[in-house]
Amino acid sequence: MTNRIQSFEEYQKEYEKSINEPEAFWASKAKQFTWRKEWDKVLEWNFDEPKVEWFKGGKLNITENCLDRHLAERGDKPAIIWEPNDAEADARTYSYKELHSEVCTMANVLRNQGVKKGDRVCIYMPMIPELAFAVLACARIGAIHSVVFGGFSANAIADRINDAACSFVITSDGMYRGDKHLAVKETVDEALKKCNTVDKVLVVKYTDRKVDMVAARDFWYHDAVASASQDCQPEVMDAEDILFILYTSGSTGKPKGVVHTTGGYMVYSEYTFRNVFQYEEEDIYWCTADIGWITGHSYIIYGPLLAGATTIMFEGVPTWPDPGRFWQIVERHKVNIFYTAPTAIRALMTRKLDFVTKHDLSSLKVLGSVGEPINEEAWNWYRNNIGKNELPIVDTWWQTETGGIMISPLANHSPMKPGFATYPLPGVQPVLLDGDGNEIEENGVEGYLAVKFPWPGMLRTTYGDHERCRRTYFETYKGYYFTGDGARRDPQGLYRVIGRVDDVINVSGHRFGTAEIENAIDEHPHVVEAAVVGFPHDIKGQGIYAYVICSEDCMDEAQLIKEIDQEVVKHIGKVARPDKIQIVDDLPKTRSGKIMRRILRKVAEGDTSNLGDITTLLNPEAVQEIIDGRK
Ligand code: WTA
Repeated sequence: MTNRIQSFEEYQKEYEKSINEPEAFWASKAKQFTWRKEWDKVLEWNFDEPKVEWFKGGKLNITENCLDRHLAERGDKPAIIWEPNDAEADARTYSYKELHSEVCTMANVLRNQGVKKGDRVCIYMPMIPELAFAVLACARIGAIHSVVFGGFSANAIADRINDAACSFVITSDGMYRGDKHLAVKETVDEALKKCNTVDKVLVVKYTDRKVDMVAARDFWYHDAVASASQDCQPEVMDAEDILFILYTSGSTGKPKGVVHTTGGYMVYSEYTFRNVFQYEEEDIYWCTADIGWITGHSYIIYGPLLAGATTIMFEGVPTWPDPGRFWQIVERHKVNIFYTAPTAIRALMTRKLDFVTKHDLSSLKVLGSVGEPINEEAWNWYRNNIGKNELPIVDTWWQTETGGIMISPLANHSPMKPGFATYPLPGVQPVLLDGDGNEIEENGVEGYLAVKFPWPGMLRTTYGDHERCRRTYFETYKGYYFTGDGARRDPQGLYRVIGRVDDVINVSGHRFGTAEIENAIDEHPHVVEAAVVGFPHDIKGQGIYAYVICSEDCMDEAQLIKEIDQEVVKHIGKVARPDKIQIVDDLPKTRSGKIMRRILRKVAEGDTSNLGDITTLLNPEAVQEIIDGRK
């Protein structure tokens, strides 16, 4: 049985059907899974509250579908191949049977510690197999996982733990990243000083780093495993029970806990995986993302495992021990489908081509891109040098909130155009809106990208604050889910997503709100006011530019800049460090006191030729000052 689209004509037919009869369409995709009880109703929705329910009344467990369902047919097939940071070390492979027993064992450890359905579990770990076990172990017992990316600081972890009132944390002693051995458990300890909901911390021994274990709170995984059985009955979940929370940044200060539920997410992540990449049973599939982001959730763990695929999990970085690391792994595991981010491609294309050509990349069939707009130069380099000028590139546009890929070519079937995500997947109804919220019908236009009909993988709420979800995504344009992105539709109807139209910056495919970074900078006692904007960056896509006003008794400027940088590291993490910090006397403001970000962005870009009319500003002289002081 294959439910893969086999041609562009078939895509067009599927698309038609998905629009005309969405319920019948998605029901036909959901049927292949193991349901303990079939749903009563495929879809109920309105975008006003908003309320979106898929497969209502259906009962299932997603891990039964990721694991148990495959045991008879592909129990010995590799499910996860783990490629460690150390290029000399052996990879580790877990068959579906082995992964099943690892997950069941960890699930029992959690159950034995009192974790139950609906409890929130924070997972803060490096890219080691136990991270995948932990995610699936939570899902096995109906606990809600909230994975926090390893690059976030103690403060950022604490915020996320507190927002979701997590009762349990899973972590490791330390982690490796390139040639570095870094702390992990210490960061959790630091975070927990600010949290009072966490009872227990499960620690995986990995790097043998010396860590403090807090009595009655912390316990080692290897100790707990000894008394845990490998037999774990899955918790039977409602299709609309929460599967996970994943925090993401928006235009306002505090990150939001995007909530995904069980049934719809399952159907959507599998369907999109299989069709976009045109996955076939024997394929070796590798997505280079980190599980701390949505791409890792949907396309390292859930999508591929639901499809019964072999998925590679890579602990290391693309440039260590040398910039050929990705291609060495492709060669070593004979990777067929390779999915990465434009920032990685841009970083690698500046290096000698030898790093590519010395590896045998003949196994590759499909290349993917995700996370940010891919510029034409990077697209062409990827296609020519990695894709031998013949492989399809799927430029996949989607978001944490969408749960899975929304606009993308289907490998080998859809037309391709550099920088274009092309057509919506079946079931996805994108529109371009003008500033008044009217749909723009014609092609060859730009507009605000929104979606007018629900799809099974979409977010259901933001954790603990449904009103915030409504305000953020469903209020700007009534009757639509608003993405926050601007897009162009070419004369043929192909979509190109240009980038954010709100105060979100995309740095190396990681999302940060400008307000979030400003708040961190404001924590410095000498900072009076800060304004953060994005600027074009050759490798990261966007860089972070901070303009900071400091108090009169300000210390030495170089020292202050150092301390501001540390403030960001402390409150958010190294991933959000500003590329440039400029100390200014004043920020250009409107008469009503609003910071003119448009001008700040222009100056950060180095484009001061056309700043528009600045005479209406409260303080036009501030503009020249920031131009003169530009870093
Ligand atoms: C951007 C990552 C252009 C976009 C899966 C979106 C893209 C944000 C693409 C979501 C793409 C992602 N082309 N832009 N192919 N993919 N984006 O939540 O601005 O980390 O809104 O999800 O990344 O980032 P997030």
